[in-house]
Amino acid sequence: MKRLFVLLFFLPVFLSAQGGMWLPMHLEKQNEPEMKALGFNLEADDLYSVNQPSIKDAICQSSGGCTGEIISPDGLLLSNHHCGFEAIQSHSTLEHNYVEDGFWAMSREEELPSPGETAMFIVRMEDVTPLALQNVSATMSEQDRQSQIDKNLAEIRKNTKKEKWEEILIRPFYNGNQYFLFVTVTYTDVRLVGAPPSSIGKFGADTDNWVWPRHTGDFSLFRVYADKDNRPADYSPDNQPLRPRHFLPISLDGIEEGDFTLVYGFPGRTDEYLPAAAIEQTADVLDPAKVSIRDRALKVMDGFMRESADIKIAYIARFANIANAWKKWQGEMQGLKTYKALERKQAYEAEFTHRINQDPGLKIKYGNLLPRLNASYAEMKEYAFARDYYQETFLRNIQVMGLASALNRWIKTYEDGNLPAFAGRQSDLNERLTAYYKDYRPEVDKAVFAALTEQFAGNMKGEWGGTFVATEAAKRGGYAELADYIFSNSTLANPEKWKALAAGEAKELGAALSQDPALLLWRGVAERYEENVVPKLEDLQSSINLLQRQYMAAQMEVFREKRFFPDANGTLRVTYGQVKGYSPRDAVIYDYQTHLEGVMEKYIPGDYEFDVPQKLIDLYKAKDYGQYGTADGQLPVAFLGTNHTTGGNSGSPALDANGNLIGLNFDRVWEGTMSDLNYDPAICRNIMVDMRYVLFIIDKYAGASHLIKEMKIVKGKKKRRKRK
Ligand code: ARG
Ligand code: GLU
Repeated sequence: MKRLFVLLFFLPVFLSAQGGMWLPMHLEKQNEPEMKALGFNLEADDLYSVNQPSIKDAICQSSGGCTGEIISPDGLLLSNHHCGFEAIQSHSTLEHNYVEDGFWAMSREEELPSPGETAMFIVRMEDVTPLALQNVSATMSEQDRQSQIDKNLAEIRKNTKKEKWEEILIRPFYNGNQYFLFVTVTYTDVRLVGAPPSSIGKFGADTDNWVWPRHTGDFSLFRVYADKDNRPADYSPDNQPLRPRHFLPISLDGIEEGDFTLVYGFPGRTDEYLPAAAIEQTADVLDPAKVSIRDRALKVMDGFMRESADIKIAYIARFANIANAWKKWQGEMQGLKTYKALERKQAYEAEFTHRINQDPGLKIKYGNLLPRLNASYAEMKEYAFARDYYQETFLRNIQVMGLASALNRWIKTYEDGNLPAFAGRQSDLNERLTAYYKDYRPEVDKAVFAALTEQFAGNMKGEWGGTFVATEAAKRGGYAELADYIFSNSTLANPEKWKALAAGEAKELGAALSQDPALLLWRGVAERYEENVVPKLEDLQSSINLLQRQYMAAQMEVFREKRFFPDANGTLRVTYGQVKGYSPRDAVIYDYQTHLEGVMEKYIPGDYEFDVPQKLIDLYKAKDYGQYGTADGQLPVAFLGTNHTTGGNSGSPALDANGNLIGLNFDRVWEGTMSDLNYDPAICRNIMVDMRYVLFIIDKYAGASHLIKEMKIVKGKKKRRKRK
């Protein structure tokens, strides 16, 4: 009876209001009725509990910012192929090309230690808002406020009980209106266990990225190791596989449209509560600027990668990273327009204003908030543009400029006459740069440099750096000539030169670096940017932060009937919804599931994005799908859900109503990439690899059935839902 009531009462509201990335510790209060109405069979404390093992104990965040999950009692870790990509690439050479051919450890001894890969688990979380905001008053300057909060947080850290091997993280939520503390434990011995070839794990590559229908087997396997007491320890041959508090059973029962799904992971960043003015700026100014810079950088890289196998392997991960956001911003700016994000926000703001005008108390408190936010964003426009232009050009896309920026302080210690400090870091930096140069090809960077400096000079205000760059180019006779000059004379852009100098005396290295033409160019731009842009930019940013914090609080106070989830901030969240297709425009309907059939439809022999390995073709022809195929002889590959996800949710487990693993999150659909700013439940979908495809690849394709044996497979347990 009670259940029925819950169903009838809540269902219509919920189905129209899905979305949100919820705090695991608040699920019982905020979400359980809705989750149950959608079909969830467990309790909130099966997902998150401090006292007993719960599903959260199987979920971790990787050093790269992805999510992963433990799927065996021996610490087997599942995540995306694109999340494991740097590790896979780092073990690859032209002879052992694991990126191209895949890698499978057929025994524990063959697993590959991957320094830098880590796995962080959440032990518990706690609301520390009252302590964090103690002695903070509304009239304080932002600076005083922050230093009071920093003091409070230091105090909280000191007083929080934790084990030696645990760590404490405290993060602001709701734009700084609340604070939560996390006790974490991070394992540092993580080894590569398996990866499919790119023609499976990255099938469709950049053409298919952010797009449905999708046919990518985007997964890789690692194993977490611990010391003999099951505690974190750096790599040692004596370490043992982690014995987790919980691992996820895997269901082979398959999915139907409407099934409950839940994604558990570490979403990175969303901005769902911004004013319309901010959305407009993103769609009209900032996204287009960043896209246009990356257009050129990517075109240059692509040209080189198609010509040279060596450059392709060196640049493949970098290219994918740069292309990923580049494509997403395009989807975002398009989606914001097509699905009228601005109009939605404006209607919301009109309602907000209407409500506060009805209430004198609210009006005094919040009456001038939106006008002030709008004015700040209007002023911010050209500064935000300059920031993105500078960062994209001189920090992100021209590698030697990013390197100059990273080493500037260190080189300054030499110039300030502090030779011991300079020499003290020489060998450490030499080690890092040697690793960095492994995948650095100056000829690529030089061509990117020539293209982007020209674009920068054409778009950046003269006194903000544009004139300086143009003048430097004119001195040499053009941008290509400036590039020639810099790349033939710079130590930083020349791994051989660096190697020779770094092996010698600190004095000589310092002398060379302080005259390095790449460094000098970077400094020329950075000085102008620091002097003429940064002060005003920081000023505006700080008043926007303050106003946004107040606006967030105001929205929560004014719309009391609404539930507000905190924007993503890289902390552990639960999002849930249903398996569901969508209709992006008139007469177009997307189904919720893809199959191996579709891989073969996209197959282009020899193509660098759509090639298919022979073995997979053979299995397809023989319909040899083992226990992973459907009753009607199909092999599922990927599926869609209405779960609200973002970057960082890559590798997150998709669970069924019983907490079994059914999918691995890895992407969103094109029309829904705007969801970081404007989640629309009608359009926004997350994309997951079907676990049946993952296990099929491990078992039938790679023959790594020893890995399947350590997992817990659930089959024939699913109650079919009644269809309405
Ligand atoms: N779009 C997904 C994400 O945001 C997948 C990216 C990896 N794939 C790629 N082709 N770059 O990370
Ligand atoms: N591919 C994304 C990631 O790396 C997740 C997909 C998304 O942004 O929704 O985290």
